[in-house]
Amino acid sequence: MISLDPDLRGDLIVDAGNFELRPLAPADAGELFAHLADVEVTAFMDIPPLNEIEDAHAIIEWASSLRAVGGGVRWSIRERTTGAFVGTAGFNALIIERGRRGEIAYDLGRAWWGRGVMAGVLPTLVSFGFERLTLRRLEALVTPGNDRSCRLLERHGFAREGVLREYGFWKDRYWDQIVYGRISL
Ligand SMILES: CC(C)(COP(=O)(O)OP(=O)(O)OC[C@H]1O[C@@H](n2cnc3c(N)ncnc32)[C@H](O)[C@@H]1OP(=O)(O)O)[C@@H](O)C(=O)NCCC(=O)NCCS
Repeated sequence: MISLDPDLRGDLIVDAGNFELRPLAPADAGELFAHLADVEVTAFMDIPPLNEIEDAHAIIEWASSLRAVGGGVRWSIRERTTGAFVGTAGFNALIIERGRRGEIAYDLGRAWWGRGVMAGVLPTLVSFGFERLTLRRLEALVTPGNDRSCRLLERHGFAREGVLREYGFWKDRYWDQIVYGRISL
């Protein structure tokens, strides 16, 4: 039998206390579109606000292709009791050769900011990364000015390691990225 490393097969439904993580699926497109059409949610992200539902389908397709090649996984975050769509989270760039590291990413709908949602979800992502994926290093890239995201990572044991200058190009310009890392549970 072929063994995939990392093994991202199976249903990958993850319990995060009051929240549940499920791999993004076509049925999420409408809620994902409404979520990522919000200019405030995408202000510090590497994508422009979505314009049309096809943009959401394209993200879901990207996530599913990434997972199929073991490159990462993107979940919807839903409140367990109500099923409400809260946002998304996942691993974007899993590197397994000559290292074991993964980049975490997350975005919550504006109505959920400042309520401690990530206080429940981020430790779940961290455990998934270190235990299930047996990574050595977790990292996160944050656009300068995204103070909420910096506070979140610092509260959860990520060290601010430096600034990657002119690291990415989106929304018609280059952007620096602050790199955060955590190397054990
Ligand atoms: C980044 C982002 C996830 C941070 O969200 P957040 O709500 O600040 O993070 P948490 O869910 O951990 O909530 C913590 C905040 O809620 C408050 N809070 C309220 N109740 C809480 C509880 N029960 N437990 C913990 N914190 C609680 C905390 O005081 C804290 O606020 P503070 O940072 O002003 O002190 C959110 O701003 C977001 O989705 N932004 C848009 C997308 C984005 O930029 N993603 C990151 C790309 S790198």
